[in-house]
Amino acid sequence: MRINNCPAVISGGGSGMGAATAKLLSQLGAKVTILDIDLNAAQKIASEIQGNAIACDITNSESVEIALEQARKLHGPAKICVNCAGIVRARRIINQQGVMPLQDFREVIEVNLIGTFNLMRLAAADMEKIPQQDDTEERGIIINTASVAAYEGQIGQTAYSASKGGIVSLTLPAARELAAFGIRVMTIAPGLVDTPMLQKIPAEARAALIQNIPFPHRLAKPEEYAHLAVHIIENPMLNGEVIRLDGALRMQAR
Ligand SMILES: NC(=O)c1ccc[n+]([C@@H]2O[C@H](COP(=O)([O-])OP(=O)(O)OC[C@H]3O[C@@H](n4cnc5c(N)ncnc54)[C@H](O)[C@@H]3O)[C@@H](O)[C@H]2O)c1
Repeated sequence: MRINNCPAVISGGGSGMGAATAKLLSQLGAKVTILDIDLNAAQKIASEIQGNAIACDITNSESVEIALEQARKLHGPAKICVNCAGIVRARRIINQQGVMPLQDFREVIEVNLIGTFNLMRLAAADMEKIPQQDDTEERGIIINTASVAAYEGQIGQTAYSASKGGIVSLTLPAARELAAFGIRVMTIAPGLVDTPMLQKIPAEARAALIQNIPFPHRLAKPEEYAHLAVHIIENPMLNGEVIRLDGALRMQAR
């Protein structure tokens, strides 16, 4: 998929990996619309890249429909959809306060898994109506964001790991189904990335996590996620797959 002049929507583009992706796609000539529940954050990034910012809660069907409609009016239907919005919560099933409230589990699944699916389905419905690109027959590309916690979740990560495991599992069936329309579906599973989300973890815990990253022996940069997203967009044979972006990190049982 050619990026120059291509309409793109990026959820969670107000921060971290979504913001880095918005910036890189914009540099490459994409017409970027940032969808984020935090409108101020989205507007700040949009103003840096001459993009657009729309307040959107990915868990809400109507909110995403309205946001995509606004984005469509600005730039035409998005051919690139990058799902970066997500939340992280750490909570043991049983801790000193008692059993994990079901609502805690539900909230993480709601944003990370159901929210991702919600934007994916509505963006795909828009893409399906776009004329196919002449040379590649492509109509669109959807990139979702899982996590290595989908494979090696640690203690306290049942909800987060389940939400990201769901994204890993839907990648192939979604790609198989949307292939009929010339739409690809890919997922990136980052390891530990230096974003505001990870900065919420105390410094000692971050240092301990970095110890386990073989090479490069450091946190990933959000720009490295953005570069992978660009490669995925440009390489039409990448479809239905999950790519780990983790410096060979395999999180330990703890
Ligand atoms: N940072 C890491 O180490 C890491 C590792 C693996 C996976 N991930 C995943 O990568 C994605 C991006 O993470 P990040 O580190 O850039 O996070 P971040 O916290 O920097 O950015 C997440 C963005 O999502 C937005 N958001 C949250 N809930 C939303 C909702 N309901 N609707 C719309 N927007 C919403 C936030 O406002 C924020 O701007 C997330 O899905 C996260 O789970 C992060």
